[in-house]
Amino acid sequence: MSIDVARDGAVAVVTVDRQDALNALDVATLTELRDRLGELAKDGTVRALVLTGAGEKAFVAGADIKYMSGLDPDGAKGWGALGHEAGRLLETMPKPTIAAINGFALGGGCELALACDLRYAAGRAKLGQPEINLGIVPGWGGTQRLARICGLGVAKDLIYTGRTVDAEEALRIGLVNAIADPVLDRALETAHALTAKSPVALALAKRLVNLAPGALDAEAEAFGELFASEDAKEGLAAFVDKREPRFTGR
Ligand code: COA
Repeated sequence: MSIDVARDGAVAVVTVDRQDALNALDVATLTELRDRLGELAKDGTVRALVLTGAGEKAFVAGADIKYMSGLDPDGAKGWGALGHEAGRLLETMPKPTIAAINGFALGGGCELALACDLRYAAGRAKLGQPEINLGIVPGWGGTQRLARICGLGVAKDLIYTGRTVDAEEALRIGLVNAIADPVLDRALETAHALTAKSPVALALAKRLVNLAPGALDAEAEAFGELFASEDAKEGLAAFVDKREPRFTGR
């Protein structure tokens, strides 16, 4: 199995395990990742997801360059679409997704991390979009998400030069939220903390933060609608009563 899914309470830990290729994604691995993410997105018992790579060296060293080297334009379109599906699932599933970047996160690996809601990096992590060095460009959302997360200047620097950044620089440019060792422990700590929040409010927060700028009307309307939920009533009441809220997901 190249994708391992483990459960830690309400948190799912998805591990890409193809260590002989530094967890680079070939068709079988990426298809399996897409399928597992699709299942976890729909699984109501999963309240947060952590994505990581097996071994000490790599998160995901990118799309499989050997496979890509044989692709024609139609094949490359299909390959891009498959990567986009995985990224969209991480970005849109109604629960928080956290990348625990335990080593190299390059190309498609960096793009998967960018599709997650939060990113933590191990001190040894290296991130980047080196596609330009292969004569190609990021094709799994990197041109858009890197620009959204780090700004146009950083995105153009990394995508044009193809240089990799270490964890310290990644933190400085906002590419990761924090540096932590062991990084998986930090990701799990946050994931568990988030399972104590209202899943209703969290899912809405994710959807709203991901909306394109200018969608303030939608936020205003959705914010109002949320007040019909039991969780909103419970959360507000608990604060007033100076007690811990008991969220039920309704
Ligand atoms: N696709 C396919 N195979 C990959 C790969 C990728 N993206 N990244 C690493 N591998 C393979 C290597 O080919 C090597 O396989 P081999 O032992 O059969 O030769 C194995 O993983 C180990 O990698 P190696 O290059 O020997 O390790 P390293 O420590 O010297 O270098 C990297 C590590 C990450 C710097 C280097 O592997 C690399 O540059 N990888 C490509 C990164 C990239 O451009 N990703 C974006 C693709 S869109």
